Amino acid sequence: MDNSGRRTFLGICLAGLGALTAAAVGWPLFRYLAPRTNKESAGKVVIPEAEVKAGEAKFFEYAGSSAVLLRKQDGSLIAFSAICTHLGCIVQWEKDKQDFLCPCHGGHYNSDGAVTAGPPPKPLPRIPFSVAGGNITVG
Ligand code: FES
Repeated sequence: MDNSGRRTFLGICLAGLGALTAAAVGWPLFRYLAPRTNKESAGKVVIPEAEVKAGEAKFFEYAGSSAVLLRKQDGSLIAFSAICTHLGCIVQWEKDKQDFLCPCHGGHYNSDGAVTAGPPPKPLPRIPFSVAGGNITVG
């Protein structure tokens, strides 16, 4: 193998190594940020009331996607899709600020799901629920 052949071979090896490294780093990041699509979780979801304390949020799978149940500081409950209305990342609850942050482009939603900052065009969609016998039934 001459020098140009070695360089070509080395270039191919480095490109392959680069692609493997990008996949190894990118796939877990994609799985973390992308909405989940577990079809088995479709239907009603029952959450014990005691699991959601004032000012806290509980994330769960609902109808094949991510959802969140929030107990506001006044004790009232509200359920939303946890999918950002901008480009579909999963929002995070910021307990100290009592708002939702979308980590992808800095979108913010208040505890009613209304957009307060950033690029999201619409509020977080609400999900119906009922409370009975110490359980919250979503859906
Ligand atoms: S995807 Fe949420 S702000 Fe862009």
